[in-house]
Amino acid sequence: MNGRGEGVSESDEPTRLWGGRFAGGPAEALARLSVSVQFDWRLAPYDLLASRAHARVLANAGLLDADELGRILAALDDLASACAAGEFRPTIEDEDVHTALERGLLERLGTLGGKLRAGRSRNDQVATDLRLYLRDHARGVAVALIELADALTEQAARNVDTPAPGMTHVQHAQPVSFGHWLLAHVQPLLRDLERLRDWDTRTAISPLGSGALAGSSLPLDPAAVAKELGFTAPAANSMDAVADRDFVAEFLFVTALIGVHLSRLGEEVVLWTSTEFGWVELDDAFATGSSIMPQKKNADIAELARGKSGRLVGGLVAVLTMLKGLPLTYDRDMQEDKEPAFDAVDTLELLLPALAGMISTMTVRVDRLAAAAPVGFSLATEVADWLVRKGVPFREAHEITGKLVALCSARECELEDVTDDDLKTISEHLDPSVREVLSVSSALAARTTPGSTGPGPVADQLATVQHKLDNWRQWAVEKVVPR
Ligand code: ARG
Repeated sequence: MNGRGEGVSESDEPTRLWGGRFAGGPAEALARLSVSVQFDWRLAPYDLLASRAHARVLANAGLLDADELGRILAALDDLASACAAGEFRPTIEDEDVHTALERGLLERLGTLGGKLRAGRSRNDQVATDLRLYLRDHARGVAVALIELADALTEQAARNVDTPAPGMTHVQHAQPVSFGHWLLAHVQPLLRDLERLRDWDTRTAISPLGSGALAGSSLPLDPAAVAKELGFTAPAANSMDAVADRDFVAEFLFVTALIGVHLSRLGEEVVLWTSTEFGWVELDDAFATGSSIMPQKKNADIAELARGKSGRLVGGLVAVLTMLKGLPLTYDRDMQEDKEPAFDAVDTLELLLPALAGMISTMTVRVDRLAAAAPVGFSLATEVADWLVRKGVPFREAHEITGKLVALCSARECELEDVTDDDLKTISEHLDPSVREVLSVSSALAARTTPGSTGPGPVADQLATVQHKLDNWRQWAVEKVVPR
């Protein structure tokens, strides 16, 4: 990204938050390297909320009188509306979001605008702003995750009784319910939602009041600020408060893992929609064509889900690497935390609705799945289990069933095609009644233990998942900052 973001306009009078001790302005090359306003401008609404809370604390401390507080709060409100309407924008001279907003305040209040900086630093401000931004957007990500989980769950509900060839090593293993398979993609998303909420609990700590690193000699009230901004408590250690970026790294771990989950789902959809599988057909609105091959219908959303996991994992690695070895407390390296965090939010907010739409509109080819379910001797385990129920040790049962498979494989027939004599020849323990377990429906119906793929347990799982998603819906729309 270059140093000159979109929407950054010219101005002649630079506002700088430092410079008293400097003989002249910064070199062009330094300014271009240093500027972050082109990406941190999105923190503006949060910075303004934090400024409101700080102004009130300054007034309570007797550092602003009632009139000054009133004028500052009115100016902050006006600035917030101007920012939201795009009427107030950062200029190329604004080093960062904090500089731009101080300029906006000075434009509205004159010298009074300079009073708000007392007792705070960009170090505690930026840590506060980023916590607020990420807590807010974690809920946006959660809403979109729930939408995808809903789409998968609705397809699962329609396919509880659809048999599918369950796989290990991409080889036919045992028949499963396709609904169970789809729910196996919902379970990780439920854990991701839990991870977001756990992360949020740890992130709800307010750095404001820590100043540059040592706290303040002014009689501030970090607990009041914390409360006003929807945090559960002020930071326990001012040095840690400005140096800690665990909350960014941890957020990026959660988003990277979400990316990995979406990638695995995407890969399956790519396979399922191939001619070779043909298990699923995508709706035209959620598939793409080829510029040269008129017949093509491609699962680009699924592929982008797979592809975008790279940048999500990359963001985590970038921030961990940036933090490693940084001495306490604030170092400018930490400015590099923002773009990966913003990119993770943007990526998921873009990807999740597309995936949800693709899943909810896809057509499941029940006939193709059912036909594939028994292929590849996937009922062999049923024979082994049947022998176990007759008292044969599993080791021996495995061996006997293996011989049966070898015979069928050589004859190119299915398990149920062997004759009664063949059964007797393979083992004295086998008899024609074994055929009772040689159907996909009996294999599925036999699975009654909780969490297994039989119709009963899958219906139970479905109900639990729907209930959990309803609870998550409530969490995801809670306001981070009480307003
Ligand atoms: N733009 C800076 C960042 O994102 C804000 C904090 C700057 N603090 C400083 N001491 N230079 O990290």
